[in-house]
Amino acid sequence: MCGIIGYCGHRPAVPVILEGLRRLEYRGYDSAGVAFLQQGALHVVRAEGKLANLERRLGEQNVFLATSGIGHTRWATHGLPVEKNAHPHTDAARRLAVIHNGIIENFQEIKNGLQACGCVFASDTDTEVLAHLLASFMDQGLGIEKALSRTLDRVEGTYALVVVCLDEPGVLYAARKSSPLVLGVGVGENFLASDIPAFLPYTRDVVFLEDGEMVRIDAASWRVMDAATLAPVDKDVRRITWDVAAAQKGGYKHFMLKEIFEQPKVIADCMAGRVDVAAGRAILPELAALPRPERLFIVACGTSFHAGLWGMYVLERWAGVPTRVEIASEFRYRDPILLPGDVVVAISQSGETADTLAGVRLARERGAKVIGLCNVVGSSLARESDVVFYTQAGPEISVASTKAMCSQLTALTLLAVHLGEVGGRMSRQDRMDCLHGLCRLPGILEAELPGMRERACLLAKAHSEATSFLYLGRGPYYPLALEGALKLKEISYIHAEGYAAGEMKHGPIALIDPRFPTFALAPVDELFPKVKSNLEEVQARGGRIIALTNPGGDLRVDDVWEVPRSFGPLSAFLMLPALQLFAYEMADYLGKDVDQPRNLAKSVTVE
Ligand code: AGP
Repeated sequence: MCGIIGYCGHRPAVPVILEGLRRLEYRGYDSAGVAFLQQGALHVVRAEGKLANLERRLGEQNVFLATSGIGHTRWATHGLPVEKNAHPHTDAARRLAVIHNGIIENFQEIKNGLQACGCVFASDTDTEVLAHLLASFMDQGLGIEKALSRTLDRVEGTYALVVVCLDEPGVLYAARKSSPLVLGVGVGENFLASDIPAFLPYTRDVVFLEDGEMVRIDAASWRVMDAATLAPVDKDVRRITWDVAAAQKGGYKHFMLKEIFEQPKVIADCMAGRVDVAAGRAILPELAALPRPERLFIVACGTSFHAGLWGMYVLERWAGVPTRVEIASEFRYRDPILLPGDVVVAISQSGETADTLAGVRLARERGAKVIGLCNVVGSSLARESDVVFYTQAGPEISVASTKAMCSQLTALTLLAVHLGEVGGRMSRQDRMDCLHGLCRLPGILEAELPGMRERACLLAKAHSEATSFLYLGRGPYYPLALEGALKLKEISYIHAEGYAAGEMKHGPIALIDPRFPTFALAPVDELFPKVKSNLEEVQARGGRIIALTNPGGDLRVDDVWEVPRSFGPLSAFLMLPALQLFAYEMADYLGKDVDQPRNLAKSVTVE
């Protein structure tokens, strides 16, 4: 969603802010702007489109005297992505400027009230009401802290916001509720941002703000307070170990390609300290206090939902726990029956997906324990779960999620083995074999990825004319069929549909013709004969087929693509990168914006 950065320090603020916004571009945006105080005046510069447009505007002015300011990249939620709706937004007297990520749900009611008092609005955004409301409280004689507290008390919805005000040059105020905001603590300088990479080159010392907290920063100090009472709040400063390179492309053409090739390391990092192969044990101290669940409800969105769907197969097979997987936006609005002993596993790479967080809150209201399976340390999901199971995949920058899913499958495997042991459902030998298989995957994948990429490149070019694809899979490979289709859709803009292979004859087979290729997942497992006959039905109707299979599968289709097998469903770890690379090579060949596909955001923090 929107990118936010604020700076107070000894450097020229505008270049620092622009550099920070560049590092937040992956969040998806359609306009940008900055605000800073200079020579006693508040300057606001905004532009539609990419940051280059904003930089051109700024190039026309002298912007180097300011040593504090705010910057924003906007992903439109209210109001068209045009300059007047770009952030920052100011009050009528241009006494202050605000940037915001989130949705003010009662903005229209507040706007009507302010307009009735003569307030003139310049935009169609919800955010602008924050600027006018804050100024109205200050006009009543309140200092900015109290005025901001009153403003936050009045608004409903979600926000991560930062304010710069003429009354206090060199000072920024910020607050958060349900949208991410972190404080970067430097030497003689301090930062505020929606995500850590924005200021990582300057400091690794980070303070995570919680919902309901407000913060004041200047060049030399920072102070966190309760937004309602303004009482001081003690906060820990945490040291981030990521280096800047980890958040850069590292020599790959796109973040997505880099992150696909990081998957061997991701599996290893996610397992680190959590596996004892000899004992056939997954060591998950996070779960020690949690009784064995009677039932599991996995709640997630998008790719994380597909990971959860795969998890259902291994959790029921290995752990013997009844498992249900729910799309979070459906779960949050239906009336789920949660019983004592039920556990909800919320899966989210960003830990900020609004629908998933809403599902978590509903689950907790109904008394269920929540395991947050997420990648971002200190994210909202991490803080709102009873137990946090970090996937430790490092920053995932590309909008299309790849290594995050790999880490989620790893974590779900460890969870299944853990519960399989606790519940006595999985024999020690099977647990040893499974964990041994998992431990071998990084090496196998490392060796296989370059060849996979070459094959994916050839197949993508051969099918680049296709306007629609069918992805088929059975059992634990049905979720991969869904994921392969999603990847192709979201970065190459080619329509694709994932389907359970056994469902072909219930309708989709009517679509088959030479212009509608099928991408089939056909691992050589107990369901292979079934998939093979499905593919014969497709072939009989002239459908072209790419079949991702294992050696010894004896398939006779247009393109047989063999990848190594692993322990049972773990073969998914070797098929998933092939699907990702096929979509990547197709999108790259078609010249698409691979890392920032149109209309998409890295983290959907609004519903
Ligand atoms: C996946 O490639 C998409 N970017 C999207 O479906 C994503 O998986 C979904 O929005 C969930 O995000 P989360 O894992 O951060 O909750």
